[in-house]
Amino acid sequence: MDKSKRKAVIAGNWKMNKGPAEAAALLDELKPLVAGAGCDVVVCPPYVDLAVAIEKTKGTNIGVGAQNVHFEQSGAYTGEVAASMLTELGCGYAIVGHSERRQYFGETDETVNLRTKAAIAAGLTAIVCVGENLTQREQGVTMDLVRMQVKVALLGVEAASLAKIIVAYEPVWAIGTGRTATADQAEEVCAAIRAQLAELYGQPAADSVTIQYGGSMNAANAAELLGKPNVDGGLIGGASLKPADFAAIVKAASV
Ligand code: PGA
Repeated sequence: MDKSKRKAVIAGNWKMNKGPAEAAALLDELKPLVAGAGCDVVVCPPYVDLAVAIEKTKGTNIGVGAQNVHFEQSGAYTGEVAASMLTELGCGYAIVGHSERRQYFGETDETVNLRTKAAIAAGLTAIVCVGENLTQREQGVTMDLVRMQVKVALLGVEAASLAKIIVAYEPVWAIGTGRTATADQAEEVCAAIRAQLAELYGQPAADSVTIQYGGSMNAANAAELLGKPNVDGGLIGGASLKPADFAAIVKAASV
């Protein structure tokens, strides 16, 4: 497996943490630590921090993303934000279908598909999250489920748009629990995701897609996870709030 065909991307999902002032301080600390990184670096703070994050990261190697994006362009969708609003602000990325959105806010594979298409139509790179919960892993349906999630999320997405897609494999049981998937477990599912992409778009196209692992990835376990042939990057929650830890993961992805 030739990993040089695709970009290593380390993205920080700050979730509902840090207001604008704290975000600015975190980024000031982070910038020198990841300058010159050998991988793409992205931070996804809460919406209210996006403007300050874009300002703070101007001229740096840090990209900025939102944690969600709505599928309509405008209208009566209280509390939602359209993709074009994010690009106007200067965002390059949006996380789509995070398991917390699926679990607490009723996201379905269908809305994930709509959001993904809206994001890429506006020029954003969509970080599309998939992953099984503990029951599903114990039932032995992980591969079927994750392949289905990928397939539905990408319905109607043309091969030409794949450059704007990152898939993040995040086993729900590993998120925020300190219980990381083993590198072999992560590799097994990331390989299945790539096989699904190959079925949809052909092997060369599938080989060009960045697949991240997420779920308690940290400075200590990143190198082993990222060393696997199909694990091209990470979506980092808790550890992305600590600049030194996040920078260590970026370093592990930069070899
Ligand atoms: P975690 O979160 O690193 O805190 O487990 C990952 C995520 O939810 O993206």
